[in-house]
Amino acid sequence: MKKIGVLTSGGDAPGMNAAIRAVVRTACVNGIEVYGVKRGYNGLMNGDLEQMTLRSVSDIIHRGGTMLYSARSPEFKTEEGMQRAIDVCHSRGIEGVVVIGGDGSFRGARDLSLRGIPCIGLPGTIDNDIACCDYTIGYDTCMNTIMQMVDRVRDTSESHDRCSVIEVMGRSAGYLALNSGIAVGATSILIPEIEYDIERDVIERMRRTQKTGKRHFIIIVAEGIGGVEELAKRIESETSVETRAVVLGHVQRGGSPTARDRVVASQMGYSAVKLLMQGVGNRVVAMQNDQIIDYDIFDALQMSKTINNEHYKIAYDISI
Ligand code: ADP
Ligand code: F6P
Repeated sequence: MKKIGVLTSGGDAPGMNAAIRAVVRTACVNGIEVYGVKRGYNGLMNGDLEQMTLRSVSDIIHRGGTMLYSARSPEFKTEEGMQRAIDVCHSRGIEGVVVIGGDGSFRGARDLSLRGIPCIGLPGTIDNDIACCDYTIGYDTCMNTIMQMVDRVRDTSESHDRCSVIEVMGRSAGYLALNSGIAVGATSILIPEIEYDIERDVIERMRRTQKTGKRHFIIIVAEGIGGVEELAKRIESETSVETRAVVLGHVQRGGSPTARDRVVASQMGYSAVKLLMQGVGNRVVAMQNDQIIDYDIFDALQMSKTINNEHYKIAYDISI
């Protein structure tokens, strides 16, 4: 393989730049030309690509976001859009592509691989919701950001003897909510994967801890559940604890990546190019039990990931 592309797709995640850097540097030192594709699959369809060199990726390892920009590209899912992307690859001599993104982006990578453009997927999403991976690039940074933000909310919540209901990201996955909830000592954690009852899991728990002298409360709610304003009103009316709702929003997706995200992203970017150099495509690079491994994309997309019930139980038992 003499010429490859690299793109970032879907929601951005801190550490994507470190992954891009690793891909570009590994390709360059192995004599492979590497092209940065702008704005995900849009760039591939529109021929928006630029050759990158060792120096193109200087001073990005510590930056959040993605220097290649990201996009969601509905047109790429159509037969016509896909064909345009393939035509661009052929006309520009791109023989393989590293796709950094989530499950949706991997579906695109699988389809491109099927049509003769070998692709390697790297898991980049703050949600940590990719089934074949214990860990995704961006998760650690996001968890630390949530922890820092909630610690600030806690200061003021404590000063006023209030309850703070805090929504964290994760439209369909509760990993961020569950683990950040443990990290901040939330009284209750509501996630889409585990059935909940507001009376039992929020109000009653607050009442129980009130009896032991607790006067301020943090409730973490995953984005996929939503309704934090209504929940705050209900808590206030049922417990008489003054309650405020906070939606942390996109602040969670930005910021300088943590050491963990930089290291994992660097390892994964390196592995992706090594796979392409062996002529291997249609693979996802994953982390399992602290090892970097790879899976067939078809198999990876068939897998399912479940919340660790033990983690939920720990959160429940010790936040009393
Ligand atoms: P993520 O990669 O973070 O899961 P999306 O689900 O938004 O994000 O997917 C990113 C992009 O991947 C989409 O905009 C689309 O271009 C491409 N994509 C998503 N699903 C498919 C699919 N089933 N087939 C082909 N391409 C897809
Ligand atoms: O990247 C994943 C994610 O941050 C989800 O947690 C969230 O639901 C979604 O993306 C929000 O995406 P956007 O606001 O960019 O459409």
